[in-house]
Amino acid sequence: MAEQVSRRIFLKVAGTSVAGVSAAVTPVGHAVAAGNDQAAIRAAAGMAVLPYPKAAVGKAAAMKVDTPVAFNYPDADSPCVAIKMGRRVAGGVGPDGDIVAYSNLCTHMGCPLMYDAKTRSFKCPCHYSMFDPEKSGQMICGQATEDLPQIQLSYDAATDTVHAVAVNGLIYGRQANVL
Ligand code: FES
Repeated sequence: MAEQVSRRIFLKVAGTSVAGVSAAVTPVGHAVAAGNDQAAIRAAAGMAVLPYPKAAVGKAAAMKVDTPVAFNYPDADSPCVAIKMGRRVAGGVGPDGDIVAYSNLCTHMGCPLMYDAKTRSFKCPCHYSMFDPEKSGQMICGQATEDLPQIQLSYDAATDTVHAVAVNGLIYGRQANVL
């Protein structure tokens, strides 16, 4: 009997310790997020969706039609591409409403995508999925079953700067876009 009680107490204490450890791990996990956003992320601990950083992508005037501009968002491990489409499109920003941006990882198995100016689409060299940048990253064909995550952009006319501010859709390989 004494052995049973002490075993029960041991399990209870062990369970409490595990709960304590997981509670202590959460803030440390958040602490690896980028610079200025740490305070906001800590303040948002427990929210279903963590806040996105605001990151400069480039000057609108410097962007050329059908010429991809590479950047990383919402962190260094997430390659993205901004494209000036040359005509107003869904989610487009800038003076002409034609600049859009997407995650550059295929939603099938994460291969880096190539932008094809001839078909005005993103193509995957691994299993040939295609995505439409003029239709919010909609899948055109291939092995992928998800659309391409679109990077939400904002435009500051005073400085002609395009910023990335959020992501619509889950970046390949992640359980959450902001880690
Ligand atoms: S990784 Fe792109 S289609 Fe398979």
